[in-house]
Amino acid sequence: MGVGSGFGKVILFNEHFVVYGIPSIASAIDSRTEAIVERVKDPRLLVPSGNEGSMAGDGWVLEDNRPANPGYKKEKYQQQKESVLLVFKAAGFDPTENNIRITLGGDLKAVGGIGASAAVCVSLARALNDEFRLGFDDARINQIAYEGEKAYAGTPSGIDNTASTYGGLLRFEKNLSGGENRIELLKVKRPIRIVMGNTGITADTKAAVAGVRERKEKEPAKYDRIFREAMALVGKADAALRRYDLRALGRLMNQNHTLLQEIEVSHPKLDELVELARRNGAYGAKLTGGGLGGYMVALTPQKRLQEKVARAMEAKGYEAFRTMIGV
Ligand code: MEV
Repeated sequence: MGVGSGFGKVILFNEHFVVYGIPSIASAIDSRTEAIVERVKDPRLLVPSGNEGSMAGDGWVLEDNRPANPGYKKEKYQQQKESVLLVFKAAGFDPTENNIRITLGGDLKAVGGIGASAAVCVSLARALNDEFRLGFDDARINQIAYEGEKAYAGTPSGIDNTASTYGGLLRFEKNLSGGENRIELLKVKRPIRIVMGNTGITADTKAAVAGVRERKEKEPAKYDRIFREAMALVGKADAALRRYDLRALGRLMNQNHTLLQEIEVSHPKLDELVELARRNGAYGAKLTGGGLGGYMVALTPQKRLQEKVARAMEAKGYEAFRTMIGV
């Protein structure tokens, strides 16, 4: 039996912009997806249970026991199946030669915006590596997961799989000429509390990324201006983090949300949660991840503030996830 895990993540600055080579800041969160890979001798046993998210292909079956937003697994079914095949291919693994059962679990909820798809790719690559002694290091796991991510995100930047593989707080810059991406681990003197508010909406990251591309081509002047602002903002955010100036960091998160609204990847429920968090004292709040649904993040450094913001969201019927960055 082989096991592997991948972290969930939160993007603090510049989702979407990162696809175009603008630096982004993200952190792993303290929840993971775990994958188990078991060899199955008799291929007749490769029958999916019929539970939501269970699936099978030539030489493999997958059971998805992750906690999930209602409808998420159904919505992502096809992309998940494609992604598993991409991971096999990138790992050079042929399941028809070694029949396997994959079981997904862990405490990371399968929801948009929290890196759920990247965490599956990383955990599966690690579990295959573990079971078949493939000798992959983290860099290779990260590359394989990146290939798997293409099924969900089309042209992913690689930030999700990088945060999911390495953990920690990091600055990520995609190398647009295809060479190695620039990844820098950022150290903060103390972990920072956040609240992630769940809209309950499952959005399609691939469609969100494609939508930005389309609008960017149609309105180059507007998008050039916004992209320049995103570039300037991340430099300030990086500096604020290094100074541990959380007030400044929160203000910059607010500005980043405005830019994300301008490129039309927010959603009325994301905006509502962002406003609610700010009204309740969050230092800053913004959507996180692909947008159009999924999660938002609020910066709430003190435990009492974190609790206050989370409760305000819960009082409105939203699910609030209390976690930390920079752990
Ligand atoms: C998704 O978590 C982040 C996006 O920027 C896509 C990507 O970077 O691959 C929207």
